[in-house]
Amino acid sequence: MPTADPLAADLAGVVGQQHLLVDPDLLAAYETDWTRRFSGRARLVVRPGSTAEVAEVVRRCARAGATVVPQGGNTGLVGGGVPRGGEVVLSLARIDGLDEVDGVSGQVTVGAGATLAAVQAHVRAAGWTVGIDLAARDTATVGGMVATNAGGLQVMRFGTMRARLAGLEAVLADGSVVSRLGGLDKDTTGYDLVGLLCGSEGTLGIVTRVRLRLAPLVPAGVTVLLGLESTEAAVGTLAELRRRGAPLVSAEWFQASAVALVRGHTGLPAPPCGTHPDHLLLDAADRHDPVEAMAAALDGLDGGDTAAVADDRAGREALWAYRERITESIGAAGIPHKLDVALRPDRFAAAVAALPAVVADAAPAARLVLFGHLGDGTVHVNVLGLAPDDTAVDEAVLRCVVAHDGTIGAEHGIGVAKAPWLHLYRSDEELRAMAAIKAALDPAGMLNPGVLLPAVRRPPPAPPR
Ligand code: FAD
Ligand code: MLT
Ligand code: ZN
Repeated sequence: MPTADPLAADLAGVVGQQHLLVDPDLLAAYETDWTRRFSGRARLVVRPGSTAEVAEVVRRCARAGATVVPQGGNTGLVGGGVPRGGEVVLSLARIDGLDEVDGVSGQVTVGAGATLAAVQAHVRAAGWTVGIDLAARDTATVGGMVATNAGGLQVMRFGTMRARLAGLEAVLADGSVVSRLGGLDKDTTGYDLVGLLCGSEGTLGIVTRVRLRLAPLVPAGVTVLLGLESTEAAVGTLAELRRRGAPLVSAEWFQASAVALVRGHTGLPAPPCGTHPDHLLLDAADRHDPVEAMAAALDGLDGGDTAAVADDRAGREALWAYRERITESIGAAGIPHKLDVALRPDRFAAAVAALPAVVADAAPAARLVLFGHLGDGTVHVNVLGLAPDDTAVDEAVLRCVVAHDGTIGAEHGIGVAKAPWLHLYRSDEELRAMAAIKAALDPAGMLNPGVLLPAVRRPPPAPPR
């Protein structure tokens, strides 16, 4: 479609007309986030095909004074990957190449736009695992997962995205390229730019390539679903399983409200362990069949006597469905406010117990759904029945979590959804340090304004005389 925007013509000269979108019908998919809570108009969407093209696009946007929102799979849940109004959306989707797995170092380099599922399949064929998994795997990109320091279902064994990162390549706000793809395990040569860019949510640079640490695939696995009478019991059972050395990969927790929602949306039968106030879904994997090890570890623990156990693929997927289908079931019930937070094990149950009253006080008609990754302390607080911009519950929940010594951002990032409350968890000194880093790397405030930190438009530095 012809456009009067001179920037569109300029960028089409870099990426080709077919990779430059201005038609409102085509822009729509890039303008609203997965939850449907956040949306804004894009000035245009540009889809570069290489790091060099990203760098040139960024330089030309800078010259035109345009702001840029990097976007991967648009599965983010805090509104950070969609425009707020008038930004250029820079999609990484075309930069999705997969290099050969380096079996000597156990690493692989991939394009930032590669989906997690594509990378998982690629490395699995060579006998490796990425050590990261999440339900949005078919759409979420590796670059987006680096930008948010994604967590997911296997953090208790393999860590978050930052722990899986052996290096990356990124384009900074001035169009320069930093490339740290060497994959060395040791490197004490100054500031850790890779670690800094991880979790920066597109505010410091645009990730174009990623080098991932892999772990050897282990052949045998088992899934166990436990029904428990309380959150304290879930925390206690997991603590004892860890103490007994159970070979756990995942420990997911969800309440009866989540089971009801999933069953209503999907038509699944009652869970085979029975419906209980709390549930714990465990995945274990090992070189040797972990079924006996898990049975021994569960012996005498809460929930062990009614446990549902599966070690075949279909049976395991059937148990996982109660957990993996929670997010889509919440989305089918309305537009949620999603607040992902994390707590220490000793504060987890108390915080969970406090949340219903906190939500009811702020919004008596709201519906609360709680679940999360107990293995790493994440609670996903989902509240239905609120207007998208009614943030009283958000603030009340985040204050409650901080009062229980938890973090207001576990794995989804801060985005725009939680930016007003970052001060609850980060000190003035930390916020000033973060603002100084932002000002140093992006003095004009061009990359993802309003995400993580307040948007500040500064004049670009004067050219050298
Ligand atoms: P986007 O949504 O496109 O962007 C997310 C953020 O990263 C934005 O701020 C964006 O500007 C920035 N960004 C994207 N790409 C780049 C890049 N190349 N360079 C710089 N910045 C970039 N998250 C978890 O952590 N754990 C889970 O278990 C989990 N489960 C999910 C399940 C479902 C069903 C859904 C819908 C989401 C889930 N998420 C989960 C959230 C989401 O998948 C992650 O945040 C993921 O990392 C986002 O990747 P994306 O490619 O979709 O990024
Ligand atoms: C999950 O663990 O399923 C995700 O983080 C998505 C969500 O919070 O809904
Ligand atoms: Zn999660």
